[in-house]
Amino acid sequence: MRVHVDPAGSWAVAVAAALNEWLGERAQPRLCLAAGTTPEPVYQRLAPVLVADATIFLLDEFGGLPADDPGRCAAMLRRGLLQRAAVPAGRFRAPDVDAPDLDAACRRYEGAIADGGLDLAVVGLGPNGHIGMNEPGSAADSVTRRVDLADTTRAASRRYGITRPPAWGVTMGMGTVLAAREIWLLVTGPHKRRILDRVLNGPVDPSVPATLLRTHPDVVCRVDDRAYRPREPDAADDPAPGG
Ligand code: F6R
Repeated sequence: MRVHVDPAGSWAVAVAAALNEWLGERAQPRLCLAAGTTPEPVYQRLAPVLVADATIFLLDEFGGLPADDPGRCAAMLRRGLLQRAAVPAGRFRAPDVDAPDLDAACRRYEGAIADGGLDLAVVGLGPNGHIGMNEPGSAADSVTRRVDLADTTRAASRRYGITRPPAWGVTMGMGTVLAAREIWLLVTGPHKRRILDRVLNGPVDPSVPATLLRTHPDVVCRVDDRAYRPREPDAADDPAPGG
C-alpha cells in the first residue's frame, strides 16, 4: 500500500485533482464510491463532465430507513456529486436495501459489479477499521451482503443527519472491493490517526478489515497530515480517538 500525504488545508484539492486526472484518462470508467464525510470535499471538486461519463456503484447503504432519509448513503452521494454532475440514473447503481428478497438483491448487485468489474474503488476508513460496512471479522473473500452494524458505526451515522441510527446495512464485501483494479483509501483528521497507524503497520487481519487492503497490488492511501504521522520508535503517545 502506497501512502500519499497532503497538508490538511489542501488535501481535498489535491485528491480531487488526482481523481479528475484519473477520470480524464479513461473512457466510461466503472467506479465504486463511498459516501460519508471524508470524500465529500473531494466529490464537490470533481469536474462534472468527467464524472458524467462514469458508471458509479455505491459502496454500501443503510437499511431500515425511510426511502427519503437524508442520511442514506445514496442521498449523500446524490447531494454531493450526482446531481451536480448530472449522472444519468442508469449509470448510478446502489444496493437495493428495500427489496423484499434482500439476498437475491445482493446477488444481483454483486453480479452487476462483476459484469465488467470496478476500475477504481474509492473507500473511507471507519473508526473500527471497517471498509464500507465490512465490520471487524469480515472475510477477505466476502461479497455483497446484509450486515449488522457495529455500535460505533451506528453512533457515527448520526452525523449524517440520519433520522434514527440504523441497525443494519448492505455492503459490497471485502472480496468485492479487493477485486477492483485500483483502490484509493481516503483518511483525514486526527481522530483517524490511531486506526490509520494500525491499518498501515499492524498485522493483516480481518479483525481490522482495512488491513486486508494491503494484500492488493494497487492501493494508495491518500491521507492528510492530521491523520498520518510517520512511525517513530515509540508511537505509544497517539491521541485518543476524537482527540
Ligand atoms: C460510507 C462508508 C463508510 C465510511 C466510514 C468513514 O459509505 O462506506 O465505511 O467510509 O465509516 O466515514 P467518514 O468518512 O464519515 O468518517
